[in-house]
Amino acid sequence: MRKLVYFVASTLDGFIAAPDGSFGFFPFSVDSDLARHIQAEYPETLPTAFRQALGFDTAPNRVFDTVVMGRGTYEPALQEGITSPYRHLRQYVFSRSMAPLDPEVEVVADDPAEFVRALKREDGKDVWLCGGGQLAGVLWREIDELVVKLNPLAAGDGIPLARRAFDPTLLTLRSAQPMADGVVLLHYTR
Ligand SMILES: NC(=O)c1ccc[n+]([C@@H]2O[C@H](COP(=O)([O-])OP(=O)(O)OC[C@H]3O[C@@H](n4cnc5c(N)ncnc54)[C@H](OP(=O)(O)O)[C@@H]3O)[C@@H](O)[C@H]2O)c1
Repeated sequence: MRKLVYFVASTLDGFIAAPDGSFGFFPFSVDSDLARHIQAEYPETLPTAFRQALGFDTAPNRVFDTVVMGRGTYEPALQEGITSPYRHLRQYVFSRSMAPLDPEVEVVADDPAEFVRALKREDGKDVWLCGGGQLAGVLWREIDELVVKLNPLAAGDGIPLARRAFDPTLLTLRSAQPMADGVVLLHYTR
């Protein structure tokens, strides 16, 4: 059975984007330790256009072959005219309001938890929960692993890592990998 892995960048105070949804305040650069690590270990989590610009768009998928995201996470790509942001993955966008815009991206209005449970029963690599906070809250109990790129900054306000009711959940830390740029890659299992 494959796993649902929430692989996400967060601030120290648990935000994955600014209140307006922007995320340019995360200090990510292509020649950083973190970028090199992602290229080597999780190349499929970089958007196709980004991979093409960096010249490694043929890198095979290592961990994931499928990505699920909420409409709020898909929309920034749409605003740039990109309707298929992760062409190298099977892509599902959860939305009850949006019509499909690209044959490579399936829009799903069904219950996300039920849909993800069916995906997990299929053969293949793991399923990447890209975000955002609302979908992560809905899928919280289905998340088997959490990989947090913990950035050395606090935002004060923004979109939370998982928007859900108070319900403390203890996870098991599998590894903590500090990067030269101050990011710590934290890997938890349920
Ligand atoms: N830091 C990171 O690594 C990272 C990663 C990903 C995203 N982000 C950021 O996160 C932000 C988006 O997060 P968000 O919390 O605002 O939105 P989101 O979780 O991406 O999407 C929310 C949308 O998902 C759909 N949805 C939610 N529950 C559903 C259900 N039960 N059934 C079907 N569809 C459902 C709804 O679409 P409808 O209203 O159409 O029904 C809802 O409006 C973006 O700004 C993005 O930049 C950051």
